[in-house]
Formats: sequence, C-alpha cells, structure tokens
Amino acid sequence: MKLIIASNNAHKIEEIKSMLGTKFAVVQGMAEAGIFIDVDEDAETLTGNARKKAEEIFAAADGMGLLSHGDAVLADDTGLLADALDGAPGVRSARYATEGHDDAANRAKLLSELTGVTDRAAHFATAMVLIRKEMPEIEAVGRVYGEITREERGENGFGYDSLFYYQPMEKTFAEMTSEEKNQVSHRKNALALVLAAME
Ligand code: IMP
Repeated sequence: MKLIIASNNAHKIEEIKSMLGTKFAVVQGMAEAGIFIDVDEDAETLTGNARKKAEEIFAAADGMGLLSHGDAVLADDTGLLADALDGAPGVRSARYATEGHDDAANRAKLLSELTGVTDRAAHFATAMVLIRKEMPEIEAVGRVYGEITREERGENGFGYDSLFYYQPMEKTFAEMTSEEKNQVSHRKNALALVLAAME
C-alpha cells in the first residue's frame, strides 16, 4: 500500500515517515508524489483544515491515477494552545504573527503575549485525517501537554519546539533528539490512533 503525506513541510514528513513503521510499502511527501498544490488552510478547526488538505490532495492524486485500492492520503494540521491565551495561537498557529508562515516571528509573538504571565500551561494538538481509496476514512486528534518557556531553548525540531517544555523529560522539544520527540509528541499520539483504527 502507498501513503501520500499531504504536506510540503520537510520536518513533518520526516517525523511521520520515521513513526510509520512498515504499515505502508511506499510513503511519499506531496512533492515526491509529483503533486504541487497549495491548499488554503482557512477552516475554523484543526480537523477542518486537515480534512480540507486530505480531500484536495486525495482528489488530485486519484485524478492523476496514483492511487490503487487501499492507498491513502494523510493530512495533519497542528496547533499550539496556551491556556493563558484562551487556546491561542491554536488553529492560527502558522499565521500567528504574519500571513507568511514565519516560525521565528510566531515564536517571538508568543513570548511577547506571555510576558509577565505566570500560567505557562499549553498543549500541542494534531488533527489527522486519512482518506483511503475505496475504504473508510479515519480521523483522530493527538495531544501532548507541557509549558511555554520564557526563552527559546534547543536547536532541533521546528516551529514552536524551542518554546515547548515537556516536564517528564525535563527538555524542550527542541532539546530532544527526533527519536525522543517522536516517542511522546502530539503527532505520535495522533498517528498511533490512526494506525490503531486501521487494524
Ligand atoms: P501546520 O500543521 O503545518 O499548519 O502547522 C501549524 C503551525 O504549527 C506552524 O507554525 C508550524 O511550524 C507549527 N508546528 C506544526 N507542528 C509542529 C511541531 O511538531 N512542533 C512545533 N511546531 C509545530
């Protein structure tokens, strides 16, 4: 079976690939599959955005004749939700500071919004939608709980990782190796639910 990951984010594709195990014989990012489409992520919810990406990329892949029975398209939409900010940046995480998906500017804005705020509790949420050819769809949400640091820590990962402190490992996600992050992350938890639902 083939899986196409409906993303152009190299970090995200790499994480999903390394967590998938042997479930799919072929795993490709969108570009690898020859699909070059920009999906407008304008839904109100993470699941809404994941569904939009999955449906548009599935339609494109199927239209190009890339999918056989059971082959799938997987979309992931992720947000960071800070308790003290009523769940912001949330579904707007990618475009928190600017429309331009500027990770450094997003992190700077989050730190600035939380200046002087003692409640640092936050969680990542990943919504996944898997659409399979001639088989039922699967939807899941995975979460991981932690705290927003007061300054960036660590060089690994991407996005908000250097601001997200995970107490059980006493590290930010950016201080973890990719193997460590992939054992506990929101994306790992969402993917585990998707894979379990496939059984
Ligand atoms: P999207 O799911 O690709 O739309 O990402 C939404 C926003 O969350 C972007 O700003 C990403 O950089 C950020 N993001 C997505 N996944 C992660 C992650 O695993 N760690 C940190 N930030 C992430």
